[in-house]
Amino acid sequence: MAAVAKEFGRDLLSPDELMDELEVVRAGYPGGVRPERGRKANTIEEIAAGKRRSHRGGDGNHRFEGERYLNIRDNKDARRFQLRKLIDEGGQDSVGGPVPSHPTLAKWHSMEFGLTEEEIHRLEMGDPSPEQLTYQGWYYGMHRTEPWPVLLGSALVGEGEKRLPEVRERQIRDLDETRELYQELGIKDIDRAMKGQIEHSPIGADDDHVVFGENMTREHVNTPELQERLRKVFILRLHQARA
Ligand SMILES: [Fe+2]
Ligand SMILES: [Fe+2]
Repeated sequence: MAAVAKEFGRDLLSPDELMDELEVVRAGYPGGVRPERGRKANTIEEIAAGKRRSHRGGDGNHRFEGERYLNIRDNKDARRFQLRKLIDEGGQDSVGGPVPSHPTLAKWHSMEFGLTEEEIHRLEMGDPSPEQLTYQGWYYGMHRTEPWPVLLGSALVGEGEKRLPEVRERQIRDLDETRELYQELGIKDIDRAMKGQIEHSPIGADDDHVVFGENMTREHVNTPELQERLRKVFILRLHQARA
């Protein structure tokens, strides 16, 4: 932690100070840093039930990546990388690349656990839970009210937590443990089931996304006002992600 007596919103924090202070916020939040994963589902039924819940109301994730892209109107480099990220999330296959969209990977996972395409579609067309509607609704709405540097900085809570070595290590361990579990459970196509998890791990697309989020935060969250806005969004996003 930086030895500063600076205050968010009043003083300008240097990029290092900003990153440190955001990590202080995370570390102080109950369950903010998760070097160990909680008890995980370890039967086919439990995993399938979790996947059913996750499909309810459709895949809201990644819509906001498009909102971010539309918001970056005055910085060509940032906009260009955001487009690359949007393509990773929304499907490299849309431009002839090898990996489909992350929502598609989530479906691959579910289908290896017995869900059918029709069932997933039905769940997606249903209502989200009230909690999801509230938390996700706030997050999407925020993308239309905050300046783009704050939007890119908000990624430091979710994918950006992989900048912490203990989180990276845990996620790498998880890949091995998941593979072993799926072998025990007799999952037929383990690579297909795990593709989404791999993409979101430090050896997947998220590796670049983490660096991008951090670099953009350091460079563009560069006024006391923007830093204070990011601090508030960071806390709200912790509520959202840890609820
Ligand atoms: Fe993703
Ligand atoms: Fe990502």
